[in-house]
Amino acid sequence: MAKQEDVFKKLISHAKEYGFIFPSSEIYDGLSAIYDYGQNGAELKNNIKQYWWKAMVQLNDNIVGIDSAIFMHPTIWKASGHVDAFNDPLIDNKDSKKRFRADVLLEDYCAKLEDKAQKEIDKAAKRFGDAFDKNEFENTNPRVLEYREKQKTILSRMAQSLEKEDLADVKALIEELEIADPDTGSKNWTDVRQFNLMFGTKLGASADSATDLYLRPETAQGIFVNFLNVQKTSRHKLPLGIAQIGKAFRNEIVARQFIFRMREFEQMEMQYFVPPGTELGFYETWKEKRLNWHLALGLGAENYKFHDHEKLAHYANAAADIEFKFPFGFKELEGIHSRTDFDLSAHEKHSGRKLQYFDAERNENYVPYVVETSVGLDRLFLAIFSNCLKDEVLEDGSERTVLSLPPALAPVKAAILPLMKKDGLGEYGEKIFNELKYDFNMIYEDKDSIGKRYRRQDAIGTPFCITIDHDSLTDNTVTLRDRDTMKQERVAVADLRRIIDEKTNFRNLLSKI
Ligand code: GAP
Repeated sequence: MAKQEDVFKKLISHAKEYGFIFPSSEIYDGLSAIYDYGQNGAELKNNIKQYWWKAMVQLNDNIVGIDSAIFMHPTIWKASGHVDAFNDPLIDNKDSKKRFRADVLLEDYCAKLEDKAQKEIDKAAKRFGDAFDKNEFENTNPRVLEYREKQKTILSRMAQSLEKEDLADVKALIEELEIADPDTGSKNWTDVRQFNLMFGTKLGASADSATDLYLRPETAQGIFVNFLNVQKTSRHKLPLGIAQIGKAFRNEIVARQFIFRMREFEQMEMQYFVPPGTELGFYETWKEKRLNWHLALGLGAENYKFHDHEKLAHYANAAADIEFKFPFGFKELEGIHSRTDFDLSAHEKHSGRKLQYFDAERNENYVPYVVETSVGLDRLFLAIFSNCLKDEVLEDGSERTVLSLPPALAPVKAAILPLMKKDGLGEYGEKIFNELKYDFNMIYEDKDSIGKRYRRQDAIGTPFCITIDHDSLTDNTVTLRDRDTMKQERVAVADLRRIIDEKTNFRNLLSKI
C-alpha cells in the first residue's frame, strides 16, 4: 500500500480513537460520506468557527453575521441556477453496478498520464544529477510532451462537451480511452446522464398539499435574500459584508477522502456587497486577506497556493481557489468569487421585489455587486488535523503522537493531573479546575501513570498539562508541561490563568492576520 494511504488511514483511526470524528450511525453500519463529530471534534470545530467569526465579524465594523434557515422557498433555487445547472455528469458500470462521475473518471485518467510524465522527469533527474535542467527536460523530452499534450486534449474535449451538454461525446471519450471501472476492470458503461446534487424533501402534512423543498446546497442564498433586511436594519453603507456559518447538503456521488467531500457539511461564507465597478479591487483584497487568515494558523506557507480559474462560471467575472496540501495532494479549501450582480438580479426577477441600494454619494439606486469568500468548515478541519498530527521520536528513543494544534484551537486548553487521587492531591486538583473552568475548557484526570496521561493529552493536542504533587499542597505551585517542547517548569497556581491565557487566546491568531 502506498505510504500516503497509510498516513491517511492512520489519521482516520486517530480521529476516531480520540473522540474527534466517528462514522455516522455506526452501530447500523454507518451512512456513506456522513460523519459525526465527537467530544474533541466538536470543540475543535467550534474553535475554528470562532476564529473565522471573530476575524470576519468582530474585526470588521462593516461585516455582520446572520443565521438563516436551512429550508428556503423553492423558487430561490430556481433563481440561483441550482435547479437547472447544479449537476454532475454520471455514468454507471453495468457489470459492477457502481456509479461514477464521468468527469472524475477522465480527470483520474489524466492524473495517471501526469504521474507517467513525472516518473520520466524523476528518472532523468536521478541520471543527470546536479546537471539536470528540469525546465528544459519538460519542454523537450518527447515522452513528457506527449503525455502532457494528451492530457490537454482530453480535458479540453471534455470541457467543450460538458459545456455543450454533449453527454454522448463524454461517453465516447471514456470508451475511446478504454477507461475501466477502477475496482473491477469492466468497460461496460451506460450512457452519461446529468444528476442534480440537491436533496429534495417535502413541507406539509398531506401528500397532495405538500410543497417540494430542497435542503440548501450552499449557505450563500440565505445571505442574498436577506440583503435588504440586514442593510436596512444595520444601517450600514456599502461596502457591507454579511457572514454566515451553517450546514449545506449535496448528494455527492463520488464522496471519498473522509470529511473532504461529504453529503452533509458546513460552510463559512461571507458575501461582500459593493458598488458596481469596484468589485475587482475588493476581489483582490479578499484573496489576500483570506490567504493571510489561513497563514496565521502557522501550518506552513508552502502548503497553500492559489488556483485562478481560467474558465469562469457565467455569473462570475473573477474566481480563485485557495488550495491546501492535503495528504492526497493540493485540493480546493476555499473559493473566492466575484459574483457580479447575478444573484441579487436573479432574485429581483423571480420574486418581483426590488433588491436595490440607494447610494447617497453616487445619488443613484443600483443592484450591488458581490465578492464571496466560501470555505468548507469540515475541509478546514481536515487541513488542520492532517497537518498537525505528527509522530515524533524523542531523545530517549521512545515515540509519541502529538497533535500540534494552534493553541487557540485546541479542544482542551489544560489537563489537571494530580499524581494520585489520595492524600488531598485530587481535591487540590479539583479546586484548580473549579477556579479555571470559567475561562478554559479543561480535563481532570487522576488515573494511569503520569506518562500515559501526558501521551493522551498530546494525542488530542492539549497545550498544557498541570501536574499536582505533594509539594503543591504546601507551596501552592504545580508542574506545568508544555505540549510542544515537553519542558516542565514549576509555576505558582496563582499564575496559571495568565500563562494559559497568553498561549491560548484567540488574540494570538487574530493579531497575525
Ligand atoms: N457559495 C459558493 C459555494 O458553495 P463551492 O466551491 O461549491 O462554492 C465552497 O463550495 C466550499 O465549500 C469549498 O471550497 C469546500 O471547502 C466546501 N465544500 C463544497 N462541497 C463540499 C462537500 N461535499 N464536502 C465538504 N466540503 C465541501
